[in-house]
Amino acid sequence: MLEEIDLQVQRLLRRVNQQTLRHLDGSYQVATKSSYSDLVTTIDRQNEQEIDHQLRVIDPGCRILSEEGYGDRQLDDLAGHVWIVDPLDGTLNFVKQHDHFGIMLALYVDGHPTLGYIMDAVNQALYHGGNGWGVFKGDHRLTPPANTDLHDSLVAISSSLVLDDVANLTQVARQASGLRMYGSAAMEMIGVLSGELGAYISHLRPWDLAAGRVLAEELGLTVKSIDADGISVLSSNLVLVATKRAGQDILELTD
Ligand code: IPD
Ligand code: CA
Ligand code: CA
Repeated sequence: MLEEIDLQVQRLLRRVNQQTLRHLDGSYQVATKSSYSDLVTTIDRQNEQEIDHQLRVIDPGCRILSEEGYGDRQLDDLAGHVWIVDPLDGTLNFVKQHDHFGIMLALYVDGHPTLGYIMDAVNQALYHGGNGWGVFKGDHRLTPPANTDLHDSLVAISSSLVLDDVANLTQVARQASGLRMYGSAAMEMIGVLSGELGAYISHLRPWDLAAGRVLAEELGLTVKSIDADGISVLSSNLVLVATKRAGQDILELTD
């Protein structure tokens, strides 16, 4: 049953991604949400409506937590099949760079991280897996990244955390091989999954973290909250996704 759901969700994501790419010519409207740097476009909304509608067909009885509000109104527990949807991640990059953005979906079953999907939109590369099946880029199975320590790792940290030196993260950046900021959780998660980054640290909402967590844990990577005991699936987390060694080095430096 999960196999069939998985195939249909992969098809859905590829279709939604094609529709998204057709709008790279600027044929959409942009509005601000909480601030001038927090944008939403008509494509975020169209994608979410389409994804949520199709998920209810593919996985009847599921519940949906999705960023732009087309999911279930009230979702305060994780019983059964819960899909967590980011219909366009890196909306600022989509609008300003026409590149470096993605689409993310995850299935949690009774709270257990089960299936994850991250679409690297412009490269049309779908990272997917979980449930003990492994992690794949398209049809190609990924091998777990090398277990590099912090000194030997490029790290991505979201810009606001570095600018405000939250949790001593400026020191983490100094002790890494180098600091990178991509502005899309999807792209940064892919960086860690593929071994291009040794760590990614950000303050993430449920739809920014859900898919990356499934895939990172499937590869044996560390996924930990920096400011709390555990990860809460339904709220925001200051979170670290890293190789085991880089993760340990970072947790020793953060306060
Ligand atoms: C944002 C991006 C960004 C991260 C923000 C997210 P959105 O997602 O992933 O990199 O730092 O926290 O909200 O709003 O473009 O889907
Ligand atoms: Ca996002
Ligand atoms: Ca989004």
